[in-house]
Amino acid sequence: MQFIRFSDLCTSGQATGKRVFIRADLNVPQDDSGKITEDTRIRASIPCIEMALKAGAAVMVTSHLGRPTEGEFKPEDSLAPVAARMSELLGKPVKLVSNWVDGVAVNSGEVILLENCRVNKGEKKNAPELAQKMAQLCDIFVHDAFGTAHRAEASTYGIAQYAKIASAGPLLAAEMDAISLALANPKRPLVAIVAGSKVSTKLTILQALSAKVDGLIVGGGIANTFMLAAGLKIGKSLAEPDLLDSAKAVIEAMKARGAEVPIPIDVVCAKTFAADAVATVKAATEVADDDLILDIGPKTAQLLAEKLKAAGTIVWNGPVGVFEFDAFAGGTKAIAQAIADSEAFSIAGGGDTLAAIAKYGIEQQVSYISTGGGAFLEVLEGKTLPAFEILGKRAAG
Ligand code: 3PG
Repeated sequence: MQFIRFSDLCTSGQATGKRVFIRADLNVPQDDSGKITEDTRIRASIPCIEMALKAGAAVMVTSHLGRPTEGEFKPEDSLAPVAARMSELLGKPVKLVSNWVDGVAVNSGEVILLENCRVNKGEKKNAPELAQKMAQLCDIFVHDAFGTAHRAEASTYGIAQYAKIASAGPLLAAEMDAISLALANPKRPLVAIVAGSKVSTKLTILQALSAKVDGLIVGGGIANTFMLAAGLKIGKSLAEPDLLDSAKAVIEAMKARGAEVPIPIDVVCAKTFAADAVATVKAATEVADDDLILDIGPKTAQLLAEKLKAAGTIVWNGPVGVFEFDAFAGGTKAIAQAIADSEAFSIAGGGDTLAAIAKYGIEQQVSYISTGGGAFLEVLEGKTLPAFEILGKRAAG
């Protein structure tokens, strides 16, 4: 899809002296005292801001934080901790501005952070009056919020409709480029890992990927439902028996294309769901009625690792076991290591997946780590995200 890249506007001098409005996704996790516990999204927003500053623009940045009630600002909704971290990362002051919709002063070479855009009335429903006011604040709108690219809100969609110029920031562009590389024109074999507790939350992803990938590795509760579909017993493990037909249809769709959904041949079981539960490795055919499957077994991990090492492209969403408990982390660790060792172009996204990547320290060996949670999942479903739809439309004129 074609869109105007903000980097091109900067190199061609079109951003010089201009008022630039950047919509970033600075929705970061915080502890009870408001301290930021993970700052990836703030760090990922810096290149776009630096690009705008270098081009001599007057820079306004905004983001949502959490899901506040519109029109009812509370201290915990404030982007103040984000402004402080952004200022450290940029090495320059970042003033936080409230009540900015009707006008805001900013000079070339300055960056200001506009307070939580989701407290503005009309933001969620993409109210045209709000979007128009925001568009009037700037000469150039830059969408750099991949994590929010699946939302059509006033600061992500409406403003792009009305701004004089609507462009994609470097993070949004890089995410789209990486996703295209993985899904639109992948080096084969293309192997996807889709894991998580429920088939129902990822059924549309499994269906969409079953038409594209050469190998579809399922894990977690999703794998349990697929084991049931393959005629195996899973004891009292988490599964969704009402989705057996859907799981069978995915397996059949893959088979018909000469592709496969590898079903675990061994598993790690426990009698209770607890960090100190006794872990027992069993053949997939020997799961007892009172067993809980909490991880894939070592033989399965080895087989999957070989497939991943031979892949041309890998898409990873979801840990294959309860990796938070060390006794049931072996499968996820083996998958992470195989991705790290593989020559394949690899892309990973989703909160739990990022936590696993951090736990096993493989950040540098994954080709692209997406900042999107829900947005990444919607891309895997094959949806065109509103951000790309509107930026594409604006680029077309
Ligand atoms: C996210 O954390 O996935 C994004 O910031 C989007 O947040 P939302 O689900 O509240 O729109």
